[in-house]
Amino acid sequence: AQITIHKDRKKAISPLLMGIFFEDINYAADGGLYAELIQNRDFEYTPADTKFRDYTWNSLKAWKSEGIEVTIDSISPIHENNLHYVTIKRNDELGKLVNEGFDGIPLKANEKYYFSLFAKTFEGATKLKISLVDTLGKVYTTKTINATSKNWKKYQTTLKVKESARYTQLVIEPMSNQKVGLDFISLFPAETFKQHKNGLRADLAQTIADINPKFVRFPGGCVAHGDGLDNIYRWKNTIGPLETRKPQRNIWNYHQSMGLGYFEYFQFCEDINATPLPVIAAGVPCQNSSTGGAGQQCGIPEEEMVAYIQDILDLIEWANGDKNSEWGSKRAAAGHPEPFNLKYLGIGNEDLITDVFEERFTQIFNAIQKAYPEIVVIGTVGPFYEGTDYDEGWELANKLEVPMVDEHYYVPLGWLIHNQDYYDAYDRNNAKVYLGEYASHLPGRPSNMETALSEALYLTAVERNGDVVKMTSYAPLLAKENHTQWKPDLIYFNNLEVKPTTDYYVQKLYGQNAGTIYYDTDVSIPFANEDITNRVGVSVVQDEESGDMIIKLVSMLPVPVTANLDHTQFVMNSNATLTVFAGAPDAIDVIPTTEDFKIGKEFEYTLPPYSFTVIRVQTQ
Ligand code: AHR
Repeated sequence: AQITIHKDRKKAISPLLMGIFFEDINYAADGGLYAELIQNRDFEYTPADTKFRDYTWNSLKAWKSEGIEVTIDSISPIHENNLHYVTIKRNDELGKLVNEGFDGIPLKANEKYYFSLFAKTFEGATKLKISLVDTLGKVYTTKTINATSKNWKKYQTTLKVKESARYTQLVIEPMSNQKVGLDFISLFPAETFKQHKNGLRADLAQTIADINPKFVRFPGGCVAHGDGLDNIYRWKNTIGPLETRKPQRNIWNYHQSMGLGYFEYFQFCEDINATPLPVIAAGVPCQNSSTGGAGQQCGIPEEEMVAYIQDILDLIEWANGDKNSEWGSKRAAAGHPEPFNLKYLGIGNEDLITDVFEERFTQIFNAIQKAYPEIVVIGTVGPFYEGTDYDEGWELANKLEVPMVDEHYYVPLGWLIHNQDYYDAYDRNNAKVYLGEYASHLPGRPSNMETALSEALYLTAVERNGDVVKMTSYAPLLAKENHTQWKPDLIYFNNLEVKPTTDYYVQKLYGQNAGTIYYDTDVSIPFANEDITNRVGVSVVQDEESGDMIIKLVSMLPVPVTANLDHTQFVMNSNATLTVFAGAPDAIDVIPTTEDFKIGKEFEYTLPPYSFTVIRVQTQ
């Protein structure tokens, strides 16, 4: 093959092209990225957390007891948003209340764990022994708390652990027969990402950070618009002291504690130098909601829209307002006096473009434009049905002059190979595109070299269209083993391990090798038909900050392809790095390798069969 890079045929492309989409699906938040180790810490689980009202999902889910009387009460709660608490009264000398964590509580040798609970005594002070114990009864750490107050009071202690354990449980043993009320029982590793209190699991957060995402979309997906009007995600319920946040059912049929709330999402963005992209429901829940009926759309009643819109404007003030403003002061009180610098706001998620949607979206869009013209609103063009090209969504976006729209497509692998020209013809004067959810799907929904390479190939075309496609994010991001509801996902994990997929490495290589200028290339493969040329992708970008030129080469052919690369039009240093990611189509345990590489003005490089190569060349 002959590949010629043209210095004079270039264009600016989006600096935000590679981002991530975080949704609490597959236990991505509680039991996942959110580092809390106690499940149902606030006794707020309810059968309504599940679609078909599973009555084992109640205030005592994940808890069990022995030798004590246990009652769930709601007579005098800590806060109205956390109605339920437990009272315990020991019957004999060995009573205990036990929490199983999320599939157990894993422990790391020589780590500290912060334990806390709220307690109120009914019959005088009582001591509580707190231990972490495995199923064979081995105690890894223990401490005693003296509950003395008749009113709810927070008690805390640090537990030190010497040995690692895969599976322990939290054991609370009252040391007397006095009745005591307990709530908000919490355990966090001291080692969280960037050491934040109420923080994120360090290994998972670091794996995400390694993608070098330029933005983070949250909290969904379907979680954002919810299952019915009552289930729409309300950002205000997710900020403030943990015990005052309002937990709610997750549309994916489990419980959201909201411990990972808007403050934590924004903080994570800041920690990894990514632009926050919250997505707010467009006044309508998911079209597949139980209320509204499949394929129908119900909306927030007209008379409630003013308040709903005000909530959205308040979010902007909370994120960007001065620390003395009404909502900015709440951000400051949470420990962040400086603004979070919100620039993008998604309104709607994959909604059907009905009249109900259109009316509400229009009201919200106009209100944001009026109050905060500097905010870039990202609309939605609805679910993807091949052949429709999102007609109605685009019509609305063009009518309102929405600056950017969110497109989603989960497609068969072949679609990505055969639709690399998808954005070439997009009208550059219309809304820009955020490709907010996409993935290559094969039967059985694996992640392997074939899915990964098809995404790498398609992304060469996305970079080529990086003037109209401003942002992209693969979906979904996280899945916990044994709780995986949707496949494929970018990163699988369990309590101890993080398992990035082949598709993850594609995101990481693109994220770490992003550019801001795109250079056109001519690629010619002698005697090749379209079927062959479609399986080879080339993208050349320059990162203006470092000056580096980055050549990405993808081959989905079963044979090596020797290419002569002509970059004579550029002055390039001969120092380069060569990263190769190659393996059989069904391989899953492949990781990229990087080595130093010297290039001449023209050089030959052989693309291995089924491979993605990144050549990064210094220009100075
Ligand atoms: O990514 C999983 C789901 O796919 C998202 O929640 C939704 O937006 C889409 O249908």
